[in-house]
Amino acid sequence: MKNTARQISPATHKTECHVVGIYEGGKLTSGAKLIDDLTGGNIKKIIKRGDISGKPNQVLMLHDLNGITAARVLLLGCGKAGQISDKQYHSAIQTMVNTLKNFDIRDAVCYLAELELKEKRDHTWKIQQGSMVATHCLYQYSHTKSDKPKPAKLGKLTWYVENKNQLRKSSQAATTGEAIANGMALTRELGNLPGNVCTPSYLGSQAKKLGSRFKMKVSVLGQKEIEKLKMGSFLSVAKGSRQPPRLIVIEHKGAKPTDKPVVLVGKGITFDSGGISIKPGAAMDEMKFDMCGAATVLGTLQAVGELKLPINIVGVIPSCENLPDGQANKPGDVVTSMSGQTIEILNTDAEGRLILCDALTYSEKFKPKAIIDIATLTGACIVALGNDTMGVLGNDQKLIDKLLSAGEQSYDRGWQLPMFDEYQDQLKSNFADMANIGSRGAGTITAACFLSRFTKKMKWAHLDIAGVAWESGHHKGATGRPVPMLVNYLLNESGKR
Ligand code: BES
Ligand code: MN
Ligand code: ZN
Repeated sequence: MKNTARQISPATHKTECHVVGIYEGGKLTSGAKLIDDLTGGNIKKIIKRGDISGKPNQVLMLHDLNGITAARVLLLGCGKAGQISDKQYHSAIQTMVNTLKNFDIRDAVCYLAELELKEKRDHTWKIQQGSMVATHCLYQYSHTKSDKPKPAKLGKLTWYVENKNQLRKSSQAATTGEAIANGMALTRELGNLPGNVCTPSYLGSQAKKLGSRFKMKVSVLGQKEIEKLKMGSFLSVAKGSRQPPRLIVIEHKGAKPTDKPVVLVGKGITFDSGGISIKPGAAMDEMKFDMCGAATVLGTLQAVGELKLPINIVGVIPSCENLPDGQANKPGDVVTSMSGQTIEILNTDAEGRLILCDALTYSEKFKPKAIIDIATLTGACIVALGNDTMGVLGNDQKLIDKLLSAGEQSYDRGWQLPMFDEYQDQLKSNFADMANIGSRGAGTITAACFLSRFTKKMKWAHLDIAGVAWESGHHKGATGRPVPMLVNYLLNESGKR
């Protein structure tokens, strides 16, 4: 869906529908007031009649008002003026899009960026979040369904701008929000695809496609090339599967070649059975989502390409399956990573760190100004933080702070966990330089401690997205997080804001 920001007059502007908010108690928002004035007090009259009070997410579709060109006006309850939380703002946008969808509307003008929220959010924020949430709502999974759901007709959403001075920034915000949602849609689609479709090779071909669309350099390395790089840890996970592994490298060159890149490393386990340390059966299907870190890297790069960000970025994705097999890793096996450090595999289900460590070592060659890995790494992260907040760890506080605030900006939030030296002791092994699991407690932290041994030379942050990358239950599906946090971080880094 195309999102734009414009200053229009409902008296003359051609659209199928205007969407205006009503505050609780029947108070008009500025958009509602604009239309009320043009229609000779029609909206006030309807509110008086009691058909809508302004409670959150109430809707009332009005038809054929005199004084405006559009045939429809959608009144939307928004809650108390000045008391609307960010989340309620999002849900107002969702209600709008769902209603427009039900009415088969193709084109609408939205006045909701004028709402007075509880947090003092500026117009630009409201338009960026609004266009992101609205576009996000239109995603539907259909790839492996015979009964394809009809795609929504809504193709154009215009964000009303009252003040001409805000026009340029508002248009940019509309475009940014849309690009983030488009990136999230790619991340969601790849996450949702079943493991027998979305294999490591499939991720490789998707990366190639992205590369040719946005003129990014893409290399997809196979078994032989990965062997040449001596990625013994990564390869040890891959060898339990019939699917060949892939190491995917994507380069977005938006700035001078001498500018150091931000490197994004995404965990690409296209199915995680646990291997020989096999997982219990319940909800094991959800381990097809274990490549959501990889999908986040691809989604983020798509948004970056769409926005043509003037910054250098490299995406690095190690991808394979984790399956039990005669050739699979066994507990007690010792492997040698690309860094030369040896690892005792005490649990084959702690495979994410085994593929990431080699990807991190490989990434040193790009001399990153910052390196961020994104991984559905530990169930412990869900225990610690639940499904709303991702875990953030790393060795550079400035980088961590930037990520946390980028997440705050886009309602894609993280929380930092400590990496005190004491936790490192849990990784001691009698037979190798380190073990791949800790002894007890703090599973998210010890996983990050493991990775920290491969990032000593870089400014590094780690996002544990195990709790936020997908939803379970009735709404099972990938969420597209943390694309918003990362794109906002990269926007800030590129100085484009
Ligand atoms: N992909 C899982 C982590 C995971 C589990 C994410 C459940 C989301 C939901 C990861 O590979 C894993 O299995 N981690 C183990 C580590 C343990 C063996 C130290 C875990 O969390 O149980
Ligand atoms: Mn695992
Ligand atoms: Zn895993």
